[in-house]
Amino acid sequence: MSTEQQLPPEVGTLREYSEAPFERRTEWAEEGDLVRITGPEEDHHMAAHPDLVEQVLFEEDGFVKFEGYNSVFGQGMVTVYGDQWRAQRGTIQPAFQPGKIRSYAETIRDIVADTVTDIGDGDVIDLRELFTDLTMEVMLETLFGGSGNKAEISAAAGRITEWFLETATAGEVPTSVQSDFERGMDELTEMIHGMIEERRGGDVDGDLLSMLVSIGAAGEADYTDDRIRDEMITMLFGAHETTALTLTYTLYLLADAPDVGQTLREELQTVLDGADPGPEHLDELVYTEQVVDEALRLYCPAHSLFREATEDVQLGGYTIPEGDVLYLPQWVIHRDERWWDEPTTFRPERFAEDDPDRPSFAFFPFGAGPRRCIGESFARAEAKLALAGLADAFEFERLTETFDMHASLTAVPDRPIEMRFHERT
Ligand code: HEM
Repeated sequence: MSTEQQLPPEVGTLREYSEAPFERRTEWAEEGDLVRITGPEEDHHMAAHPDLVEQVLFEEDGFVKFEGYNSVFGQGMVTVYGDQWRAQRGTIQPAFQPGKIRSYAETIRDIVADTVTDIGDGDVIDLRELFTDLTMEVMLETLFGGSGNKAEISAAAGRITEWFLETATAGEVPTSVQSDFERGMDELTEMIHGMIEERRGGDVDGDLLSMLVSIGAAGEADYTDDRIRDEMITMLFGAHETTALTLTYTLYLLADAPDVGQTLREELQTVLDGADPGPEHLDELVYTEQVVDEALRLYCPAHSLFREATEDVQLGGYTIPEGDVLYLPQWVIHRDERWWDEPTTFRPERFAEDDPDRPSFAFFPFGAGPRRCIGESFARAEAKLALAGLADAFEFERLTETFDMHASLTAVPDRPIEMRFHERT
């Protein structure tokens, strides 16, 4: 074997990895920036250095996204490539322009205000449940134009989320979870096809779904009804679970950091002055954004990006053979002490200034390069406004001190994270 064809050093097996993915990734990263995990079929490799992240995500050559979840996303933007991807991304992009985000922020203001009103002094709240509900409502009101039955869509999405978790952790999916998954997909398909018909009848207008229906299969991206369904399911899962987890972890961290809470509330006092947070406040909520960024650093919902090599690829002096899987782990890189001082400390101020010694891709919660998250500014606006509204109205008392994490499609807590909300006077 020549030097160019050398494989990365082996650190363990896929079986060991799947027993404790977060711990194993951290341990194994200490053995090198690019390491190999052997599997019964293909091997997996972990590239835990910002320069390797940059190379893979910007050059893109030789890798495709991991296809494990294509049965959910079908031909949505997240799974397609080349001209087809460019056409779909180009068609959807206008729904995420700054003007649109500002109009979504108006809707978010109302939903956050209603959420604040519904919470009573001393209520014990399951954070993930609260934020899954909030982000689902935001998504249905904005991208789906307020149509669709929230309870039914949430129930179907819940069945699919359960399947994500089982496929990621159990290897073999129990029959009941598989049949619930199929039921959830059928229900979503039927609901979205119903919404498409409503738009054809001219009953709803002005949202992303209406835009796709009016462009339709005649447009460059060939939006047949099935592709529209796939795109909306992609948006549904891209948009709500990730943002809900971001807010869950943000409040969990904040409740144990009184100094951060104080600085945050001083900003809210100055910027909001008692008003409900909305689009006009977004640019001024500077520290609020640092709090969100710091939560995204420590508990990034996208705990790792996955790619599959479509040919032998040279990376970091090693060869990643065709058919093998590559991980780019935010979980490890965001906590690496080479780039982050006191990496496990929650200190939002570290985002106040760019550290010239820190490589750009030591922080990539929304990915990087051409496939970077299309919904980043949407998610940032939503997280900032929800955090601002809740932290201005309540103090948080942690009832769940610790939890473990499951490496599903996203990084999910293994138990409810509960908190008591105390009204601020
Ligand atoms: C805090 C919240 C969010 C996080 C952490 C997040 C994270 C990510 C990451 C890491 C990627 C890149 C995946 C890869 O390269 O393999 C991605 C892509 C994507 N995200 Fe997000 N996301 C969030 C919110 C959203 C929202 C609100 C939407 C839609 C409204 C969305 C829609 C998408 C889509 C469609 C893609 C695929 C883009 C493409 O392939 O061109 N995400 N997201």
